Amino acid sequence: MAGTPLAVFQLELDRLHGDAAVALADISDAAAIEAARIEFAGARSGRLKAAQKLLGELDPADKPVGGRLFNETKAAVARLLEAAQAKLGSHHAEIEPVDVTLPGESVALGHVHPITRTIREVQEIMGRLGFESVDGPEVEDQWHNFEALAIAAEHPARDPLDNFYLSVAQAADPLLLRSQTSTVQIRVMENREPPLRIVSLGRVYRPDTADATHYPMFHQVEGLLVEPGTTMAHLKSVLRLFASSFLGGNVHVRFRPSFFPFTEPSVEVDMEWGGRWVEMGGAGMIDPAVLEAVGYDPDVVTGFAFGLGVERIAARRYGVDDIRDFYRNDVRFLRQF
Ligand code: PHE
Repeated sequence: MAGTPLAVFQLELDRLHGDAAVALADISDAAAIEAARIEFAGARSGRLKAAQKLLGELDPADKPVGGRLFNETKAAVARLLEAAQAKLGSHHAEIEPVDVTLPGESVALGHVHPITRTIREVQEIMGRLGFESVDGPEVEDQWHNFEALAIAAEHPARDPLDNFYLSVAQAADPLLLRSQTSTVQIRVMENREPPLRIVSLGRVYRPDTADATHYPMFHQVEGLLVEPGTTMAHLKSVLRLFASSFLGGNVHVRFRPSFFPFTEPSVEVDMEWGGRWVEMGGAGMIDPAVLEAVGYDPDVVTGFAFGLGVERIAARRYGVDDIRDFYRNDVRFLRQF
């Protein structure tokens, strides 16, 4: 009987190897690989396990050869399983990164807030009129927010109830969150010589209760022009050109007498658009006392200044009737702009 069991054993190993090669040749998913692994290399009832039992039944003289054949077959099956696994992995890697033939998917990228957009547009329009855009600090001292603007110590505009003072009550010169962008006029004039054409846009703070037209933080556009021979007519022309560019069409500008400590004469500026007059802010010729405070000679240069509310002009332009909507950050509102 010697010889036959080895031949039978060898035949079984060949068949096992061949079947494994066929089973793993066309694998398309991980479950099929796992099924093949169980069928051929399963620890309990796999075909290699069965072949191992047969090896134990060989004639002792045939065992060294049988053992070598068995180990070769076992290693071959392991290589087939590994190759199938690798092929499956690379198959996925090829498909997943980009399939340029698929239709595009829209991605919401977000966009610029309507107030930021308004600020940029104002800078752009004023830039075309020759006004350079400058910035100033939001935390200010008494000099720039009040004194240099001729707002004396006893003036009601300095009341702690109307300002966000930062230092403790005892401090002699408490800092505050600026209540107006007119501070920037002073900062620029202190550091430069005329002629000047600047525009400054930024946040200002006043302790107002929020309602449809008030908010404790809002934005102003400050315009300043200082040149020999400047008059109210130049002020009105600049504001009319600005309003017509920003709102579109032929916007009329109306001045009403008013008072600001740092301008003389002072006016309230209204703009007529869509059949209605809307108040936009304040303006006037820079008071000679202010020109002197920054070291200019009021007999040589004159200038005008204006301050407009950014939320107001944005609300007018976009038909928003509650400025709180600009700060609720409800994306359904913001997406419309
Ligand atoms: N700063 C003033 C305000 O906040 C507006 C203004 C600016 C008035 C420039 C005159 C000149 O009300």
